[in-house]
Amino acid sequence: MDTIAGAVIDNDIYNRRSDIWWSGEGFASLLEHVSNPWRVPYFQRVIAGEMKIAADAKRVLDVGCGGGVLAEAFAAMGFEVTGIDPSEKSIAAATDHAAGKGLTIDYRAGSGDQLPFSDESFGIVCCCDVLEHIRNWEDVISEVARVLKPGGVFLYDTINRTKMSKLVFIKLGQEWKYTRFLPPNMHAWDMFIKPDELKRSLERHGLRNIDIKGTMPGGNPLKMLIAMLQFNRGRISAAEFGKRVGGSIEGPNIDVNYMGYAIK
Ligand SMILES: C[S@@+](CC[C@H](N)C(=O)[O-])C[C@H]1O[C@@H](n2cnc3c(N)ncnc32)[C@H](O)[C@@H]1O
Repeated sequence: MDTIAGAVIDNDIYNRRSDIWWSGEGFASLLEHVSNPWRVPYFQRVIAGEMKIAADAKRVLDVGCGGGVLAEAFAAMGFEVTGIDPSEKSIAAATDHAAGKGLTIDYRAGSGDQLPFSDESFGIVCCCDVLEHIRNWEDVISEVARVLKPGGVFLYDTINRTKMSKLVFIKLGQEWKYTRFLPPNMHAWDMFIKPDELKRSLERHGLRNIDIKGTMPGGNPLKMLIAMLQFNRGRISAAEFGKRVGGSIEGPNIDVNYMGYAIK
């Protein structure tokens, strides 16, 4: 548990159990069933479009890879993937899961603010659902910029700091007894990052932001609320929750989640 300027964040939640990522049941399974369906197709399109810039982008680094939910998607696209995360239990879970799928991914335990890789060694670096958990996230951006090749692509997603994100991720997601779908203190609202703050940091570190898209759940709000109530009670799995939310709509509304990319 870490207290940052009054904001309490618990990054130990990833170290308590190793079955949180792929069981299809708990909060971390939401990354596979709710987040991957919007971010993976977007990143595929970005890579296809920017491949002429990142022409030799064979190596992908996933910073804060957790249990490998995104790293596996890149490996399945044919990239040579390295994943790094400070949570040793998550790295163990990621390694086991990739082996079970016959995927070769180089997983390492380590922190995003001190990457154990040479300068300019990756054509693509991604960091998804991670920056908003880290006090010194600007040091992660600095490291990402260092290990990216010139012309390489940085792919990210994170959470905006707005009234709407407070409602969705803090009130409904963590605090309200009947709706919460995330562990207490998984997020701290003060640590969410406004798109302009991220863009300015990218620029300071030599990364030119090209695009930002918002992602909003596709289902209607009432259906979503019902899905939250049922997930909260253990009546539906993360996979079912993902289905009910109906896939997420990519668009200009960046009030809650947003994703984008920058070029070095
Ligand atoms: C919500 S999970 C996201 C996992 C993965 N990126 C995904 O989207 O499927 C947040 C991850 O950030 C990791 N994390 C926390 N502090 C970090 C740091 N200093 N450097 C890199 N990763 C960190 C956690 O261990 C956890 O695996």
